[in-house]
Amino acid sequence: MASSIDHAAIEALERSHDVLRAFNGTEEQLCSVIDDREALIFRSGVQISATVMDRAPQLRLLVRAGSGLDNVDVEHATRRGIRIVRVPGSSAQPVAEFTFALLLSLVRQVSLGDRLLRQGHWPKAQLGGPLVTGKTLGIVGVGNIGRRVGELAVAWGMRAIGCVAVPSDAISTALAARGIELTDFETVVSQADFLCLHVPLDHVTHHMVDARVLSHMKQGSYLINVARGGVVDEKALYAELVEGSKLRGAAIDVHESEGEGSISPFGELPNVVLTPHIGAMALDAQRLIGARVVALVAAHQQGELEKTLRPDELVQQEMTINEGEL
Ligand code: MLT
Repeated sequence: MASSIDHAAIEALERSHDVLRAFNGTEEQLCSVIDDREALIFRSGVQISATVMDRAPQLRLLVRAGSGLDNVDVEHATRRGIRIVRVPGSSAQPVAEFTFALLLSLVRQVSLGDRLLRQGHWPKAQLGGPLVTGKTLGIVGVGNIGRRVGELAVAWGMRAIGCVAVPSDAISTALAARGIELTDFETVVSQADFLCLHVPLDHVTHHMVDARVLSHMKQGSYLINVARGGVVDEKALYAELVEGSKLRGAAIDVHESEGEGSISPFGELPNVVLTPHIGAMALDAQRLIGARVVALVAAHQQGELEKTLRPDELVQQEMTINEGEL
């Protein structure tokens, strides 16, 4: 196990398998323990590189306890005939709820108020912020998570607009039924009072929010990133927050550099809320994810993985991998 998951799931795995815990290891550390492993369970915070995989000749299964695949070399796994599965179903709601936790904390300066109060200050007059009701929430990436964020926004009396990579009438109609208006990226960026990012990190979305995009944001708007650090050009965001005229603040759960010892470049800015990639850390959701990981590992062992997989757990791997070969 390269990452920690729900404790009950770890215990269940340990009852039926030879489990080795190597949580949040570097590439070197993973390489030093993976040689006889057949399956690897991981979350964000570790890199499942070709080098790591190649140190494990018997490796047949990678289980992503969550949704993001930006930290695994999918092409190499495919070449090696290693099946990748993921468990995204239970993380959408916690991430959507956390987006709102950040949004409200940011706009009403909850974290700053907490920090100042602990230092003996009473800055009531300085800690005002706008209402969210009546404002526009822009969603970049209206997938499972983004759609739920939109629904929460509508429940808060906000206008919810969003964009997707490949728009269609069917998507537009489905979103409209939930009160979310499908539009294009530029419109979302320029009209949002709160711009929320919910796209995976890949070569298309890397630094998609750069200096140009930030300069097109609405005056006095806020940015909330619970997607991946690499989706935002952090240097450009820092410059905008310090010298720019558009953004009033940002909430950042995901960072270009993550893990113990990483210092955020935004640490000194009072108008930024920072959290350590905890969007999906609702414990009841983690319990469900853990139970599903246990079930998938068991199904793999029994040669029944392919028929156990739910559609969203299946990672498209170009080459077909026959279960019999695993
Ligand atoms: C995910 O991709 O599911 C989330 O980033 C959760 C995580 O692994 O921390």
